[in-house]
Amino acid sequence: MDQEDMVSKLPPIDRDAVVPVYRPYLGPEVQEAARGALEAGWLGMGKLSMEFEQGLERYLQLDGRRAVATNSCTEAIHLAGQLIGLGPGDEVICPAFTYVAGHQAISRTGASIVFCDVEEGHLGLDPDRVRELITDRTRAVLVVDYLGLPARVDDIVAIAREHGLRVIEDAAHAFGTRSGGRPVGSFGDITCFSFGPVKMITTLEGGAVITPDPADVQALHELRHLGIDADTDARYRNSRNWEFDVVRQGYRCHLGSVPAAIGLAQLPLVDEFIANRQEYCRRYDAAFRDVEGLTLFDTDWKDVAPYIYVVRTRDAEERGRLMTHLKERGIATGIHFLGAQDFSFYEGCRRGGLEVTDRATGQVLTLPLHPYMDEGTLTRVTDGVRSFYGA
Ligand SMILES: Cc1ncc(COP(=O)(O)O)c(C=O)c1O
Repeated sequence: MDQEDMVSKLPPIDRDAVVPVYRPYLGPEVQEAARGALEAGWLGMGKLSMEFEQGLERYLQLDGRRAVATNSCTEAIHLAGQLIGLGPGDEVICPAFTYVAGHQAISRTGASIVFCDVEEGHLGLDPDRVRELITDRTRAVLVVDYLGLPARVDDIVAIAREHGLRVIEDAAHAFGTRSGGRPVGSFGDITCFSFGPVKMITTLEGGAVITPDPADVQALHELRHLGIDADTDARYRNSRNWEFDVVRQGYRCHLGSVPAAIGLAQLPLVDEFIANRQEYCRRYDAAFRDVEGLTLFDTDWKDVAPYIYVVRTRDAEERGRLMTHLKERGIATGIHFLGAQDFSFYEGCRRGGLEVTDRATGQVLTLPLHPYMDEGTLTRVTDGVRSFYGA
């Protein structure tokens, strides 16, 4: 792509400024939408929350599946766990290689985490390793679409069906990714998305549960809002229902009107964000392909909605030196992820062999990826990495 072709809605990053890992887009149309919602004065869950859910259902081509918006993906995963009845005595097979949000959401239900390895290549859950870990106590599998690459959800759902298990797909990184021509969320079992501050689209903080069974929507509404049986419809009309029953233990993790308005303003931009990010990932790949010592993900990015761009170094020591080298050049980096099997809180959890996880956690390095990047910034990053390797 030539410089002239690159239409940016974000100002170029000054050469003296640090290039951040993330850079959310909160331009005039987003600020206008937030101001409109503030001025309307109905701040809690309301008509805009419902419209955001309907926007998600349209964008994800859900065709009968339903979206229930929450205030984070962590809460979405927790609600999914409550919906399928997870509790003490149950086990959930989870990748060790993921953000601890998923583990925390599952362990909050009282169920036990079982750490499972991921596969080389896409670093998503390994179906063969999942199969080995299933016991009489297993109730569910948590699958993660790492950095936006689709995990092997169909294979894992097939194994789960053989054993009567549910699958919760943590698609926090994969809003807009397609697999086999279908948007993530439109197939599989239960899917959870994140609209956190730095995700593909943001509602500042936010998330959603996608359920394949419309009959689950009522239960999700109750779980999302204090176990109340009959208030959501009224709130969706910016009103309240003063007569209701409380029918279960619920939580309070709905999406308010101002965050929903911000999300609604970002939805029309998501295809542009994805196309740009794909282009930047391809630029990075082309610049790093011949660098000895770096391993890239084996994808052409077509159909992938890249949330982060990750390279793998030879080992953790080299990664540390590369991070320092880039920091000295004003380029911020990140690590996705540390291995959750090493966190003290989870030290008692059952686990299989975690060879790929152990290797990947020492190698992965996240480089800056934004919805709009200027030529100078992309070149700063590629030159910074290449100069470390003397390339
Ligand atoms: C894989 C994964 N799952 C879940 C989450 C949690 O999302 P949220 O911040 O919306 O709760 C994150 C956050 O970055 C994540 O990376």
